Amino acid sequence: MRVFVTGAAGQLGSEMTRAFAGHDIIPGSRPDFDLTDERSVRRAIDAAEPDLIVHAAAYTDVDGCEREPERAYRVNALGTRFVAVTAHASGVPLVAVSTDYVFDGTKGEPYLEWDEPRPLSVYGRSKLAGEREALTLHDRSYVVRTSWVYSPQGRNFVRTMLRLAGERPTLTVVDDERGGPTLAADLADAIARLAERPVYGIYHFSNTGSCSRYELASRTIELAGLAASIVPVSTAEYLSRYPLPARRPADSTLRNVAGAALGIELPPWEDALRRCLQPSRR
Ligand SMILES: NC(=O)c1ccc[n+]([C@@H]2O[C@H](COP(=O)([O-])OP(=O)(O)OC[C@H]3O[C@@H](n4cnc5c(N)ncnc54)[C@H](OP(=O)(O)O)[C@@H]3O)[C@@H](O)[C@H]2O)c1
Repeated sequence: MRVFVTGAAGQLGSEMTRAFAGHDIIPGSRPDFDLTDERSVRRAIDAAEPDLIVHAAAYTDVDGCEREPERAYRVNALGTRFVAVTAHASGVPLVAVSTDYVFDGTKGEPYLEWDEPRPLSVYGRSKLAGEREALTLHDRSYVVRTSWVYSPQGRNFVRTMLRLAGERPTLTVVDDERGGPTLAADLADAIARLAERPVYGIYHFSNTGSCSRYELASRTIELAGLAASIVPVSTAEYLSRYPLPARRPADSTLRNVAGAALGIELPPWEDALRRCLQPSRR
């Protein structure tokens, strides 16, 4: 199989290459593949002659999207339209990756694939618009929502905690924001399995279980054997000290019903974190 991966240099994109070992991966990266340029999207995909497209590229900086809404919509919504239209014209299935931030976090229990989205931020709204582009323009689209993605490379919460713990004795982390941390490698494996099944539609793929940012930071520091102490604070208190432009959902934990029905489930988040931070103890 020939797999065209957008955002191939990102956290998820780079894991897709390993998850599709034995297949031909054609990476879509700037400058040859730019989501804001319809021609470059069409040319790159047409030239690749793929059997599958995994669309992992996005403008993922949540606060950056709030500051630059037009760029957010151009990349996350319009860019996904270009990918979906090209996939449709070539008759190639598309996996469009989306986010837990399409929800407002007030449900009080994990979100199902069919719950009504209500994004709080430009990032969430632009990703929801991208979901709709994929689902309405291409009948062979999977939309895979995920959450709190991290990997040993890239910009992510786990790596930020490790860096800060090396610089400071004490870290202040919010304890009233909950979600499902997701190891990019586990997400890539789940997507590769999903792509074998022509059951299109919306999926929720996160490592199983959920935690607060404070719990994730504490477990990260503990598994890495670092000495920093973590102080829990409320989001309101944190934001009064370090204001951020974008609002985050209080509890955006996703529940995987559709994938589980196909036998696709991700390992528990603590197991994934251990494999990421202590790879020699696998
Ligand atoms: N990170 C999370 O916590 C999280 C949570 C939920 C959902 N998601 C979703 O999961 C997917 C993968 O996220 P990730 O963490 O792997 O992202 P990432 O590491 O930030 O990588 C994003 C990739 O998108 C590329 N990109 C950005 N703008 C582009 C453009 N105009 N044209 C072409 N490529 C462009 C970037 O290319 P450059 O290298 O050139 O910048 C980068 O390779 C995204 O759809 C994201 O919305 C992520």
